Amino acid sequence: MSAALATRVANGLSAARAAHRARQLDERSNAQRVEVIIDGRALINFTSNDYLGLAAHPRVVARVQEELQTHGFGSGSAALLSGRSSLHAELERELAQFTGMPSALLFSSGYLANLGALTALSSASDLILHDRLNHASLIDGVLASGAHHRRYPHLDCARATALLQAANHEHKWLVTESVFSMDGDVAPISSLDESCSSHGATLYLDDAHGFGVLNDGRGAASDLPPSRRDALVTMFTLGKSLGSVGGVVLANSAVCEYLVQRARTYIYDTALPPVCAAAALESLAILRESPTRPRALASRVASFRHRAAVLGIPLSSSTTPIQPIFIGDDARALAVSHRLLADGFYVRAIRPPTVPEGTARLRITLTHDHSDAHIEQLLTALAGALHK
Ligand SMILES: Cc1ncc(COP(=O)(O)O)c(C=O)c1O
Repeated sequence: MSAALATRVANGLSAARAAHRARQLDERSNAQRVEVIIDGRALINFTSNDYLGLAAHPRVVARVQEELQTHGFGSGSAALLSGRSSLHAELERELAQFTGMPSALLFSSGYLANLGALTALSSASDLILHDRLNHASLIDGVLASGAHHRRYPHLDCARATALLQAANHEHKWLVTESVFSMDGDVAPISSLDESCSSHGATLYLDDAHGFGVLNDGRGAASDLPPSRRDALVTMFTLGKSLGSVGGVVLANSAVCEYLVQRARTYIYDTALPPVCAAAALESLAILRESPTRPRALASRVASFRHRAAVLGIPLSSSTTPIQPIFIGDDARALAVSHRLLADGFYVRAIRPPTVPEGTARLRITLTHDHSDAHIEQLLTALAGALHK
């Protein structure tokens, strides 16, 4: 390593540690589920985005085992060479149908879907307005697009509308998450959509945490009128509620076709392994057969919030499975998460730069498979850890 690089790395690491911002990798040695083994210890997991408990569902595992016999593992090339299988095509049709969107295109991750779609669809003469708390993959897509861009205050539809009204760029975009990944709050989607419609802008919706959760699992856009669904671009990851891996962009079929021609992260990237599409197909089948799963999840959230309020634990306004407990100070957030770990609960402290300065928090995620007992035990431990 060169001396300059060695100094940069050493300084970066010591600065992160001194500021209580060093990130730590753990090792999980069993499946992604409520009870996990982390670095050899059994813990109750409150960190997972496997909201519907499908990542290790026996039907999903069996489907993957079965499809492995036909499709093998690796996809072998980019989709445009020979990497796209019948499972990819089937999943695209099923996801479009389930969400009520006209068409769908699979990417090998949600990050690459955002990066590819935003850079391909926007041009340097466009204006992109984006929520201040958007996910890193959206920020990177906006920056890499080379378009003019402005951030608007979190969830502030009035401000976004005023900015849209004042702009006269070739094309205007409004980019937002549906459910925000670190806050759990929900964007005012109908109002943002109306505003885009009135000002000739396109709404780009990242539904990573909304699909499987909102509107009986069909996602944030599914209750918009069909004519509006045709006008918007939405995406989500297969890595959360569908318990697999991969990303999908959903839009009008001409837009999907354009992405096949233009999105660099689609064209120059090895296609998703076919069995990842198979896992998502099986999860989707389970979701279709049991629409009660998202409702059961919502009732876990309600019981978490009710019990937390009884114990005097300060809650955010989120009514989704992402339940942040705001602490503020980085070192304290870390200390509370360590206390929970000592009590057998796996909860991560999220600190800047992932979240804004002074808003360090515990990010608690609830899933379909948490029982009332898990929730009660966590909250009792949390009440103690917060008061120490
Ligand atoms: C809001 C949001 N968008 C995009 C992504 C990226 O998806 P993936 O993990 O499939 O790359 C994530 C997640 O990690 C996310 O939370």
